[in-house]
Amino acid sequence: MNYNNATFCIGAMKPGDFVRDGLPQLAFAGRSNVGKSSVINCLLNRKNFARVGSAPGKTSQVNYFLIDSRLYLVDLPGYGYAKVSKAERERWGRLMEAYFASGLISTGVHIIDARHKPTADDVTMMNWFQSTGCPVIVVANKLDKCKKSEIEGNLQRIRETLSLSEETILLPFSAEKRIGVEELRRLLFRDEQDEQKI
Ligand code: GTP
Ligand code: MG
Repeated sequence: MNYNNATFCIGAMKPGDFVRDGLPQLAFAGRSNVGKSSVINCLLNRKNFARVGSAPGKTSQVNYFLIDSRLYLVDLPGYGYAKVSKAERERWGRLMEAYFASGLISTGVHIIDARHKPTADDVTMMNWFQSTGCPVIVVANKLDKCKKSEIEGNLQRIRETLSLSEETILLPFSAEKRIGVEELRRLLFRDEQDEQKI
């Protein structure tokens, strides 16, 4: 799996634009500004491939990145940005509902802020993932902003608030300091061929 071979495919604005070619879709969701695009850049060894920062709440498309012609990383628009209009929030809701109901997601990557207790919106997003029945990996990003002494308690609080089962992987991560990158690559990019080599 060559993750350096990545191309941007499409920013879907409506359900009719969703990609339906049978390749796996790894869906990245999380609050606005939590670092979805940064985590994707980290995984792909790129600086500004998935767009980072600038205008929070403005990435209102479902962005598809094709990796090595084998799978898609799907950067979902963030939620919970206060300054978004009601109309825009409703548009977001319709687009997300359609995507989560589409059966197109093969694995969920739910990105949470390692510093804070997950919000009500985070809990709702986790429930959406669980409703798809697909495996979900929870990534606790911005670990570099936590004190060492806080980390364990914060991770426990994330587990409890999101009601994660024991089997659900909760991965401490920092896109900034590149903590957890290799492990997330292993979890997401491992495939049958690679497994046979082990
Ligand atoms: P939207 O697309 O607007 O929903 O945001 P996003 O979730 O894609 O977040 P993005 O990757 O754009 O990152 C938001 C801000 O957080 C940027 O300023 C990043 O540099 C910063 N950031 C992302 N990850 C980390 C991290 O691990 N540590 C720190 N300290 N900052 C981070
Ligand atoms: Mg983004």
